[in-house]
Amino acid sequence: MMRTMALALVAAGFGLNVAAQEAAPPPADPNAAPATVKDVCTQCHGETGVSTDPAKYPHLSGQVPDYIIKQLREFKGGARNDPVMTAMAYTVGTDEDARAIADWYAKQSVTPSAATKPDLIERGKKLWRAGDAAKAIPACAGCHGASGQGLPAQYPRLSGQLPTYLALQLQRFRNGERANDPEGMMRAIAERLTDNDIQSVSEYASGLR
Ligand code: HEC
Ligand code: HEC
Repeated sequence: MMRTMALALVAAGFGLNVAAQEAAPPPADPNAAPATVKDVCTQCHGETGVSTDPAKYPHLSGQVPDYIIKQLREFKGGARNDPVMTAMAYTVGTDEDARAIADWYAKQSVTPSAATKPDLIERGKKLWRAGDAAKAIPACAGCHGASGQGLPAQYPRLSGQLPTYLALQLQRFRNGERANDPEGMMRAIAERLTDNDIQSVSEYASGLR
């Protein structure tokens, strides 16, 4: 009798919780974008990773997921800096959030970009496929993949990315403003690239498919 009463009291005490649970929405649609993407990232990178302003923001669609996670961590930690993106990285709470966001963007299909400056293509293609032995520049394809699709886990996709964004990052590696590349491997390459090399290879890499 005491036991029944105790159980009844417990049940009454938890009454509110039970009701709340019954009213809870069904589990989130696993095919929907993570909430942070919808609430924050979409403003600049689009819900499907297509930049909302190509003059300012990179695409994220089809990017290597572990590369996205690394960049988010480093914008937060200060190893990579950008006046706009650094603040945004702080809206990503846990490692699980970062993983969900990265997996979401990684599976979005890439919008192919077309090379618009044919005069730059020859030099770009040479750097991409063979590098330039005389200047000790290795082939970009060796790390970023033959078609620029990137290679898990640390080499980002470059194909489909905005050429202006690629060129900006190469300039930042070259002047040391961006220094989050493992073992300085991108800085060592970028410091050997001329302005024309940077324009050429950015244009070429962007148009790969
Ligand atoms: C207000 C605009 C803005 C918002 C919102 C924003 N970003 Fe960015 N993001 C940028 C800019 C600008 C850059 C380029 C930074 C640079 O030049 O180094 C960038 C770069 C990135 C990169 C690096 C891409 C690469 O190829 O290296 C990742 C990853 C990224 N953002 C993820 C996110 C995620 C995830 C969110 C949502 C939590 C988000 N961003 C929200 C502006 C934004
Ligand atoms: C030895 C391997 C290696 C080679 C060769 C290489 N890269 Fe990279 N590259 C990397 C790595 C690793 C990163 C990512 C750095 C990081 O973690 O932030 C990167 C990043 C980049 C980025 C920044 C992408 C983004 O989304 O922000 C650009 C642009 C780039 N590389 C261009 C090139 C070009 C052009 C060449 C050829 C001239 C080249 N890379 C050759 C390893 C390489």
